[in-house]
Amino acid sequence: MEQREDNLKDVISHAKEYGFVFPSSEIYDGLAAIYDYGQLGSELKNNLKTYWWKSMVQMHENIVGIDSAIFMHPTTWKASGHVDAFNDPLIDNKDSKKRYRADVLIEEHIEKIRQKTEKEVEKGKKKFGESFDEAQFRATNPNVLRNEEKIRSIEDRMRETLENNDLEGVRQLIVDLEIVCPVSGSKNWTEVRQFNLMFSTELGSVAGDASKIYLRPETAQGIFVNYLNVQKSGRMKIPFGIAQIGKAFRNEIVARQFIFRMREFEQMEMQFFVRPGEEMKWYEYWKETRRKWHGALGLGASKYRFHDHIKLAHYANAACDIEFDFPMGFKELEGIHSRTDFDLKQHEQYSGKKLQYFDPELNESYVPYVVETSVGLDRMFLSVLSASYQNEKLEDGTERVVLKLPAPLAPYKVAVLPLTKKDGLPEKAREIIDGLKFDFLCQYDEKDSIGKRYRRQDAIGTPFSVTVDHQTLEDNTVTVRDRDTMEQERISLDDLHTLLARRTSMTTLLKQLK
Ligand code: GAP
Repeated sequence: MEQREDNLKDVISHAKEYGFVFPSSEIYDGLAAIYDYGQLGSELKNNLKTYWWKSMVQMHENIVGIDSAIFMHPTTWKASGHVDAFNDPLIDNKDSKKRYRADVLIEEHIEKIRQKTEKEVEKGKKKFGESFDEAQFRATNPNVLRNEEKIRSIEDRMRETLENNDLEGVRQLIVDLEIVCPVSGSKNWTEVRQFNLMFSTELGSVAGDASKIYLRPETAQGIFVNYLNVQKSGRMKIPFGIAQIGKAFRNEIVARQFIFRMREFEQMEMQFFVRPGEEMKWYEYWKETRRKWHGALGLGASKYRFHDHIKLAHYANAACDIEFDFPMGFKELEGIHSRTDFDLKQHEQYSGKKLQYFDPELNESYVPYVVETSVGLDRMFLSVLSASYQNEKLEDGTERVVLKLPAPLAPYKVAVLPLTKKDGLPEKAREIIDGLKFDFLCQYDEKDSIGKRYRRQDAIGTPFSVTVDHQTLEDNTVTVRDRDTMEQERISLDDLHTLLARRTSMTTLLKQLK
């Protein structure tokens, strides 16, 4: 765990040093859980958005994208249930004065039991070697079975107490599990209280409840209120989807872990409108489609796992998370939710407007059901950055820090480096960039030795570095260095564009989704 925390610290300082992420308003000592993306961070973020947007909107005939406002009519949030139910159960430790989410404390306790099981399995593997049958071991080992039973009973109690808003019951569970505060080590807990996560402000100059509006806590409601506008203006036929990328705001109480939990963040959400009764089929479809989308990035299948929700949100009849193995362990990256017809029905009721679909095949009207995929852009950013960050020991005994970013996501696709600052080499390098810059973001660098320049490109994840030397002037060839293998090959300048397109374009990534 310690090593993982160090890894997070390294990623945070690397992100700052190279212009990926800065603490917001840093000259005023920053603002908790708010961050700014720097010159390279914005590029990486834009590339992530493009990957998501194209995979949804460009690759699906029946999905369109919108961009709705952050401020919405306040009744939206009454109808959606956020005013009454978008709460976190909070508990304070009286000794450390630290505040925690009660459900997260319990989930972390469950995770510790899971880790004990994994240790048992590891022991079994070592003991039995080749002949080890993992499935049978998990099904029969008494310690594993005891742990599973413990987890089941904790999850049952947690679900029951949270669903019934039994806050005393939640506290009792924490007490019974003997959970201690990670800071003070004591079990001296306050009662559990609900805390609404929405930020509010006033519209216009009149203060008071009448003009109170909220900063949206999810982008999804902007899609629901526009469902009919899009369906009619786009002549959309069910099943169809509406996608959106945009800012969301939550007054997170326990905001830690860098850009994992922020108060201002970005979501990439897609609501897929389906026939009632067909939602589970589409739920499974989107689970698989989204798994593939993440998998195509090549960060490693073992970095992802599905986690079914213990407590379903007020709008869902099935829900799961795609979790990622962040430096802090496995945590939620994306949510996939079968939201039923809850949201559209609520908006029908609160607005008095019909939000139905006439299905010509069935010859009937209904309120569509919705399957949602919702991924945090900032969490995607952290997943890609932390998995790509590597401190490599090289054969010659030196070390290098390299960001092995998936090439289509890398901020710069290529660096063009004149070997020396004279003899017409800088001019030739700039001429090469002039030919490439319509399709690729290129960097020019002539300072320091070529070795140092390669290291700088490694540190920012540039997949290819092109060196221009005297031979280039004679035969129009350059050396191309691969970031990951550090191998160099000499190629004709005529082939450079094709090589970069093949290895770094978004198309290459999107083609893997077929
Ligand atoms: N519309 C459904 C919805 O908002 P959610 O599970 O609350 O569901 C979806 O959020 C995704 O948004 C999460 O999986 C996560 O990636 C991201 N997210 C949520 N809260 C966040 C926060 N405070 N900071 C960064 N990302 C967050």
